[in-house]
Amino acid sequence: MQQTTVGVSLVGCGSARLPTILSNADLSKMVETSDEWIATRTGIRQRHIAMEQDSLSSLAASAGATALEMSALSPEEVDLIILATSTPDDLFGSAAQVQAHLGATRAVAFDLTAACSGFVFALVTAAQYMRLGVYQTVLVIGADVLSRWTDWSDRRTCVLFGDGAGAVVLRASDRDRLRGFEMRSDGALNGCLTLPYQSESADLVEGKTSQQGTFAPVSMNGKEVYRFAVKRVPEIIEKALFRADLTTKDIDWLLLHQANQRILDAVANRLDIPAERVISNMSRHGNTSAASIPIALDEAVRDGKIKPGDVIASSGFGAGLSWGAAVFEWG
Ligand code: UT7
Repeated sequence: MQQTTVGVSLVGCGSARLPTILSNADLSKMVETSDEWIATRTGIRQRHIAMEQDSLSSLAASAGATALEMSALSPEEVDLIILATSTPDDLFGSAAQVQAHLGATRAVAFDLTAACSGFVFALVTAAQYMRLGVYQTVLVIGADVLSRWTDWSDRRTCVLFGDGAGAVVLRASDRDRLRGFEMRSDGALNGCLTLPYQSESADLVEGKTSQQGTFAPVSMNGKEVYRFAVKRVPEIIEKALFRADLTTKDIDWLLLHQANQRILDAVANRLDIPAERVISNMSRHGNTSAASIPIALDEAVRDGKIKPGDVIASSGFGAGLSWGAAVFEWG
């Protein structure tokens, strides 16, 4: 097969609308916490949560549909859908359901699991197919419904997360707007942030058992993950910038996974990026895992903050542990 090297453009974005809001005041009725504690330690004031009618795949499809609309493309034009999620409706994968919801009949679709790094990993994965000339139009979606797996009696974690879905449309182009990337994993630190399978042994026949169970709620060593993030995220952004032959001075926007406002501030500080160039929607959405970067991107583009040609340094980080950065030009 003849291979042509082409580039990638980001031509549209979208996010799902989740009208139900869980405020810090609501949480203080559920656990021993306060708006003051949550706001000062995390920057979060509220988060959106999925209701009974909101499946992971319906949210992801809604984000994908708005991204396609902005791109003026029809679902039939999509070649590939990558759904970054850790909370699928079906452990066999939810991307094919998204494909069906959208009517993207030509597209192959698969899930990619990398927790809060999922969107960056999916963006980079999609770009490789496109650079090889295999696919021309790709929908990358980050979606998570962590409310399903939150321990609502654990104040250390339940105040952090929200649900959501965001998407971008990539198109093959002559000039590559994904300027540089870097991705890392460290499974030795897996225990710092987990949503593990827990099971009991059930006898099948003598000497043979099956392990049946479900997933435990999210558990996190917040301090460890915080330390990891403020050290590793600036490093990986510097590496991605190096690959792009750019420096922090060339960045128009710093777009980090929205985990904690203090992490956003610390990373920006280390990279010497002024606060007005840092995208944050922490206060309104909390941590939406794989969805946080594309939701924040979508809001900033629709607000007219991010403009075509702007250089964006994005970074996802979290469970795995995993972390990654992608430097790209919008539009
Ligand atoms: O998306 C994946 C990536 N995740 C992250 O990046 C999260 C990284 N970690 C963090 O953002 C922070 O560590 C947290 C926001 C999770 C916690 O903030 P912290 O400043 O590290 O607080 P802490 O865990 O050290 O807790 C300080 C105190 C403790 O009380 P004592 O032991 O000092 O008496 C906690 O029990 O705050 C207490 N506390 C709370 N108090 C009121 C913990 N959670 C709460 C709460 N409300 N919700």
